[in-house]
Amino acid sequence: RRPVSLPRMAQMREAGEKITMLTAYDATFAAVADAAGVECILVGDSLGMVCQGLASTVGVTLETMCYHMASVSRGVRRVQGTAWLIGDLPFGSYGESPQQALHSATRLMQAGAHMVKLEGGGWTAPTVRYLVERGIPVCAHLGLTPQTVHALGGYRVQGRGDEAAATLRSHALELQDAGAEMIVLEMVPAQLAASLTEELPRCHTIGIGAGKGTAGQVLVLHDMLGMNLGKMPRFVRNFMPDAGSIKGAIEAYVQAVKGGSFPDDAVHAW
Ligand code: KIV
Ligand code: NA
Repeated sequence: RRPVSLPRMAQMREAGEKITMLTAYDATFAAVADAAGVECILVGDSLGMVCQGLASTVGVTLETMCYHMASVSRGVRRVQGTAWLIGDLPFGSYGESPQQALHSATRLMQAGAHMVKLEGGGWTAPTVRYLVERGIPVCAHLGLTPQTVHALGGYRVQGRGDEAAATLRSHALELQDAGAEMIVLEMVPAQLAASLTEELPRCHTIGIGAGKGTAGQVLVLHDMLGMNLGKMPRFVRNFMPDAGSIKGAIEAYVQAVKGGSFPDDAVHAW
């Protein structure tokens, strides 16, 4: 297998093949996800909840992100894996200035990331441009942006209604113009995510709770393995019951996304 790269993902998209992404936070899960055929592994700041027992992602530090990023990178390399590795820039590590973002992104890249992800639209566009011009691939993240949960008033659907949809659309177009080559759309109406996908040919849309019309899908690994003991979000499917193993469950996820049976717009979308 050849390593997953940005040109390869552009080819996949042109061929109509969905891009699959899952989170992983350690060497073993990352190696299993890679072996199961997931193209992108996201070291998400959801590790704050999954690994650290925090109430939100707000308390996750750059140092912690780099620790998990390095573990995942070593795990994938040890099995000669091919996954594209994305690292979340955590809360407080990129909002001050583009220079602060570059400093933080550099550390994540040195820990093994191929791309960094940051949340928000509007003010983020100049920061994205600054990173991209300096050779750091960027994944944007719009819709429900968990780092701003306290400002948003909770974990709820975003981009509902004409005005909110128009704002989200203009932010997405600005981010593509700034050079973002991927964008996570979290908890936005399926129709909006599908039309944005058409409008963003150079920026691959990766949906989570955003319907099936995106270029790819992402889930939190522990959620799709049924290991979330809290309230399971509606957009998640537990792939474990019908699989014989964790690798089997991840393979089933990859197959379901590529075959169009996940997500199910009637159950997993707004
Ligand atoms: O941190 C995370 O897991 C994420 C994904 C849910 C997109 O940002
Ligand atoms: Na995240």
